[in-house]
This record gives sequence, C-alpha cells and structure tokens, in this order.
Amino acid sequence: MNPQAMAWLKAAAVYFVIGVGMGIYMGASHDHTLKPVHAHVNLLGWASMALIGFYVLHFGDRMSRRLERIQFWLHQVGAVILLVSLSLLVLGNTAVEPVVGVTSIVVGASVLLFAVNVFRSLR
Ligand code: HEM
Ligand code: HEM
Repeated sequence: MNPQAMAWLKAAAVYFVIGVGMGIYMGASHDHTLKPVHAHVNLLGWASMALIGFYVLHFGDRMSRRLERIQFWLHQVGAVILLVSLSLLVLGNTAVEPVVGVTSIVVGASVLLFAVNVFRSLR
C-alpha cells in the first residue's frame, strides 16, 4: 500500500481513539467544557485525515509527493499544537490564544497545499 496513505490513515485512527475517548469522558462526567476540542479532534483529526488518506491511496501516483509530504507535516504538527493550545484556552488560559491563531493558519496552509495537489492530480 502507498506508505504516504498509510501515514495519514494511522494518524486518523489515533485521533479517532482520542476523540471518542474524550466524547465518552464528556458524556460520563457531564462536563462538556472540551466540546470544541472533541469536535475538532474528531473532524480535523479523524474525519479529515481519513479522507485525505483515502484520496492519497487512490490518487497518490498522480500527486506531487513533495507537496504531499510538506502538507502532511504542516497538518500533523499544526493540529497537535492547535488542539493542545485550544484545550488550554477553553480551560481558561487566555495567554495561549496567539498559539491557537498561528497554528490555525498552519493547518489552513496545509489544507491549501492539499487543494493545490488535488487540482494537480486531477489535471
Ligand atoms: C462514542 C463516541 C462519542 C461520544 C460519547 C461523543 C460525545 C459527545 C458529547 C457529550 C458532546 C457534547 C454535546 C453538547 O455539549 O451539546 C459531543 C459533541 C460533538 N461531537 Fe461527539 N461524541 C462521540 C463521537 C464523535 C465523533 C466520531 C464525531 C465526529 C466524527 C463527533 C463530533 C462531535 C461534534 C462535531 C460535536 C459538537 C456538536 C455541537 O456543536 O453541538 N463526536 N460529543
Ligand atoms: C484550522 C482549522 C479550523 C479552525 C481554525 C476552526 C475553527 C472553528 C471555530 C472558531 C469554531 C467555533 C467554536 C465555538 O463556537 O465554540 C468551530 C466550530 C466547528 N467547526 Fe471548526 N475549525 C477548523 C476546522 C474544521 C473542520 C476541518 C471541520 C469539519 C470537518 C470543522 C467543523 C466544525 C464544527 C462541526 C463546529 C461546531 C462544533 C462546536 O460547536 O464545538 N472545523 N470551528
């Protein structure tokens, strides 16, 4: 199997476990403070990474490998720091807000690179 697709799908599975774990904890504790983090661990982590992984699995041969690797690392590093800093922010640590902002842009840049690569691969 395409090793780049495998990397996305493995990362997605890790986010799925964490996201669902958080959901179960929130439901059991009735403490929904981390709801936005739970939502984005599941959607930016599990759902987005799995969709990208399946796209790379099918169209990886037509994509720029270099662009995809840059996108992968921007998304992985950006998402981890974004979600950890967002957790701190919703728990009351307002000093981390710039980190949330900058890492949102990093993830946004990775999404832009993905879109460029999708268009390249569909030429
Ligand atoms: C066993 C699995 C899961 C449990 C127990 C769970 C539990 C929860 C809970 C307790 C909330 C807070 C609801 C509220 O405060 O109104 C929530 C919100 C949310 N969950 Fe989950 N969740 C699970 C899986 C998932 C998955 C797999 C996804 C996405 C793929 C997801 C996406 C969301 C979203 C987007 C919200 C925010 C909804 C809103 O803004 O009203 N959850 N979840
Ligand atoms: C860097 C990327 C992203 C940023 C900066 C971002 C930002 C935000 C913000 C500021 C909110 C409002 C939160 C609130 O009112 O508490 C939000 C909510 C939401 N976003 Fe995103 N988002 C991103 C990516 C995504 C993606 C990729 C998806 C889906 C695939 C998504 C789905 C949602 C959903 C379902 C909600 C409502 C959940 C809730 O009520 O907590 N977001 N997002």
